[in-house]
Amino acid sequence: MDFKRVFKSERATRKFTNRKVNEEILADIIRQAQYSPSLLNSQPWRIYAVMGDKLAALRKEHEARSLEGIKPDEDFATMLSLEWDTFPSQNMATMGASQSYFYHKRLALFNKANNTMFNAQCVLYLTIPKESPAWSVFDLGIFAQTLMLGAINEGLATMPAHSLVSYPDLVRKYAGIPENESVGMGIAVGYLDRAAEVNKPIYYPERLPLDRIYKVSK
Ligand SMILES: Cc1cc2nc3c(=O)[nH]c(=O)nc-3n(C[C@H](O)[C@H](O)[C@H](O)COP(=O)(O)O)c2cc1C
Repeated sequence: MDFKRVFKSERATRKFTNRKVNEEILADIIRQAQYSPSLLNSQPWRIYAVMGDKLAALRKEHEARSLEGIKPDEDFATMLSLEWDTFPSQNMATMGASQSYFYHKRLALFNKANNTMFNAQCVLYLTIPKESPAWSVFDLGIFAQTLMLGAINEGLATMPAHSLVSYPDLVRKYAGIPENESVGMGIAVGYLDRAAEVNKPIYYPERLPLDRIYKVSK
């Protein structure tokens, strides 16, 4: 696919079809993502794919906990500060306040999508060692983006979601992740359900004007 098209196609997918993801394609995408740069070539990332019966069982427990209102306990939340600066906070508030998407009856759709893990048929969990500098979180982010663009290039849709790692103990149990790794991020990979209401582009979250984020000094 044309690179610019790949880039522009990257949108959150909140409902996937039941179509399975080919394991060889998945391995290829991950192999490609390994070309991502990392500090001193440290390659701190590890990737755990969960699918089939394991994912069905994980989804069941995830949904039950979400509906019970059990508080998320993400690994990165304990690793990094949750106090946000006003700049990203304002962006999040703008998104929430101005987009009816998250309100009224669509809020229920949004919550259901998150609670049911977007009906994903494959979730990739990305980890770094618990003992990691902030650089490794940066490296993991680069890896994740390369992975997602590679998936989109293969005609797949992606959904990076912290809600997928709300309950790291569940993820560890089903993905076989050892205690000395932080469950950093979950990325659902699969096929876009075009008919799903939650995927209908009522609005696209806009980005800030360039001059709000970019400054040239010369
Ligand atoms: C680190 C990260 C965590 C996210 N967590 C969630 C999530 O838990 N649930 C969700 O519905 N969307 C989640 N998203 C998707 C964002 O809301 C979405 O990327 C953003 O609103 C911009 O929309 P777009 O990707 O469709 O352009 C997450 C995205 C990222 C990068």
